[in-house]
Amino acid sequence: MNLHFENMKELQVELKDKSYPIYIGSGLLKQKEILLKHIKSKQVVIVTNTTIAPLYLSDVVNSLSGFQVEVVELPDGEQYKNIEHITKIFDCLLEKKFSRNATLIALGGGVVGDMGGFAASCYQRGIPFIQIPTTVLAQVDSSVGGKTGVNHPLGKNMIGAFYQPQCVIADMDVLSTLDDKQLIAGIAEVIKYGLIRDLAFFEWLEGNMALLLQRDKQALAYIIEQSCINKAEIVAEDEFETGIRAILNLGHTFGHAIETGMGYGTYLHGEAVAIGMGYAADLSQRMGWITEKDVERIIALLKSAGLPVDPPADMTVDQFVDLMAVDKKNVDGNIRLILLESIGKATLPISVEKNSLEQTLINYAG
Ligand SMILES: NC(=O)c1ccc[n+]([C@@H]2O[C@H](COP(=O)([O-])OP(=O)(O)OC[C@H]3O[C@@H](n4cnc5c(N)ncnc54)[C@H](O)[C@@H]3O)[C@@H](O)[C@H]2O)c1
Ligand SMILES: [Zn+2]
Repeated sequence: MNLHFENMKELQVELKDKSYPIYIGSGLLKQKEILLKHIKSKQVVIVTNTTIAPLYLSDVVNSLSGFQVEVVELPDGEQYKNIEHITKIFDCLLEKKFSRNATLIALGGGVVGDMGGFAASCYQRGIPFIQIPTTVLAQVDSSVGGKTGVNHPLGKNMIGAFYQPQCVIADMDVLSTLDDKQLIAGIAEVIKYGLIRDLAFFEWLEGNMALLLQRDKQALAYIIEQSCINKAEIVAEDEFETGIRAILNLGHTFGHAIETGMGYGTYLHGEAVAIGMGYAADLSQRMGWITEKDVERIIALLKSAGLPVDPPADMTVDQFVDLMAVDKKNVDGNIRLILLESIGKATLPISVEKNSLEQTLINYAG
């Protein structure tokens, strides 16, 4: 069955027998055919949180008449993205005797998507799942590509699995209830795509940030689509991050250190990544790859989005180095970073001399 709706675009993540579509458009939650096409079971569990449930749960439930539908409402926040709260999903699935062909729908932002996906990957060693991302960040990044997981007190996203969804349904209408701070945090990941592999997109963002911040529908549709195209291409090339996929981590080693160091939830993920991209730009300049003007251009674009770029006042250099030593890109305990060869071209992970890293950690000023 092919789906054709006005105001809907369909992209494909090409992963052989694990390929799946990303639907992007308006009013998609009310088009039950989309969900029905991808659910092959009678049992469906919807994982969401206490903020999103009152807003959008009924749209999803209304599409599922005739199904056994259970709902797990998680508390809202990055601080609950942990093993303890994942258990609530397993409790529900087991109490309701859900079988191995049951479908899990993750309805929410990146936190719900990462947790729901991880639960789906583990329950009976894997059940099908569907991503319905409801934040900009989740629509442009986290719902695509199959990275799922939870945080550990000692490191962000350190417990998880690669597990691809059956489809991603990005309904732009849900963004109307998202506050500006969250919208802006999502734009950090959008700027990231421009920086790592898409100069034309970076330039488009330089020219259209005001429009985007006014939530112009076409501008929003464009960034979601362009981001998903970039992400889908990278994931198709390197599903398990043995190579090129690592460039999606630009700014994240610094950013994760900030998120862990300041306490989960103090900075939004996108905000921490924005500051992290500032650090990465500074270090790229110290390596002699990008110019001072490039760094200024990067910082200017981040600032024009309203993103923070200043280093967190409370974190010491030692704390940064210590936290950055816990990162999935590290090999044999050495810190490896994604840096920029130019605007629009990222490096693969490289080991950086401790001295250069410390120069950036000491001198970067935003
Ligand atoms: N898996 C990946 O590839 C990947 C990539 C990037 C980020 N992430 C993860 O994603 C998480 C961040 O995701 P996020 O920024 O979406 O945060 P989030 O999931 O915490 O959502 C942000 C806030 O917005 C609320 N919300 C969500 N949708 C809403 C809506 N439509 N209207 C009103 N409020 C809404 C949420 O309840 C929450 O309070 C982090 O844990 C990060 O590690 C994962
Ligand atoms: Zn991210």
